[in-house]
Amino acid sequence: MATVLAIETSCDETAVAIVKNRHILSSVISSQIPVHQRYGGIVPEVASRQHVETLNSAIAQALQDANLTWAAIDGIAATCAPGLVGALLVGLTAAKTLALLHQKPLIGVHHLEGHIYASYLTAPHLQPPFLCLLVSGGHTSLIYVKDCGHYETLGQTRDDAAGEAFDKVARLMNLGYPGGPIIDKLAQQGNPQAFPLPEGQISLPEGGFHPYDSSFSGLKTAVLRLTQKLQQMTDILPVEDLAASFQATVAKALTKRTIACALNYGLDTIAVGGGVAANSGLRHQLQTAAQAHHLRVLFPPLTLCTDNAAMIACAAADHLERGHSSPLTLGVQSRMAISDVMHLYS
Ligand code: KG4
Ligand code: ZN
Repeated sequence: MATVLAIETSCDETAVAIVKNRHILSSVISSQIPVHQRYGGIVPEVASRQHVETLNSAIAQALQDANLTWAAIDGIAATCAPGLVGALLVGLTAAKTLALLHQKPLIGVHHLEGHIYASYLTAPHLQPPFLCLLVSGGHTSLIYVKDCGHYETLGQTRDDAAGEAFDKVARLMNLGYPGGPIIDKLAQQGNPQAFPLPEGQISLPEGGFHPYDSSFSGLKTAVLRLTQKLQQMTDILPVEDLAASFQATVAKALTKRTIACALNYGLDTIAVGGGVAANSGLRHQLQTAAQAHHLRVLFPPLTLCTDNAAMIACAAADHLERGHSSPLTLGVQSRMAISDVMHLYS
């Protein structure tokens, strides 16, 4: 059983974790959210500088929390794609240096494969094939999980990611950043039926709609128009009702596509990953629909839904146990299809 130390710096969390046998020995997450809050969103250059400042102490902390020395580590992993290039470079360069210094294999990890592995940390005996609904700030995908390193994207967003839609809607209502948790909290006090909003659909040339692809930019524009109209009519914006209506529409769109996909592909387990998996509306709708169709849904705990290095270490350990490792010439990529994961290994 491989013990892997992993570094995750693809976006705005500096994270380091050690995982063995799908069990977390330590997990350090240093969030940059307060730093980016003053800009209303992530500033890539600021993110890279923050990673440089925090990473060394996070690595030391992860080893100390696990009560391990480098001798006990079998491999060193880092997220290498997709993500902010400067931010990814900080983590991957550190991992390469450590791999060279301590003579350990390097394992580059695809960030979305990491999110899938949060489910293996939650249910260590989970067996593929299963369907993964990956909903984060940068991605909204339905992924057929065939085996470690083997994935097929069955559906995706054609414009904004679900988390991005939460963040943009929160910004247009002046609610702050990141928008997902703020909208989720407000929605719990609002009426989801207060404002009917359009669910984005992707038309097919032959007629009808794409069953698995989604679109959230039209929904965001509809919330903007509605907000502007309400602002002309009243001094106090009904933010709770707006949040609840928006959240229910996103949850409905995701639930409909996920259930259709699982049923059509004969997959009886749905694993959810990414920051939006923390959303209470999505959890409720998906859980209810899955139960009605006798499907199993796995929601990782909130700390594993958002970016963390434990999920990266877990994926890397599986690859290492299969003999996969990456060359020290490995680079970072801002975009990379999950179907190309095996290109990271020699
Ligand atoms: O997976 P993640 O930590 O980072 C990316 O890889 O993108 O996801 C962050 C995204 C943000 O857009 C944030 O607003 C959203 O996840 N998020 C939520 C919730 N918590 C985080 N969206 C909806 N409801 C939540 N409770
Ligand atoms: Zn993520």
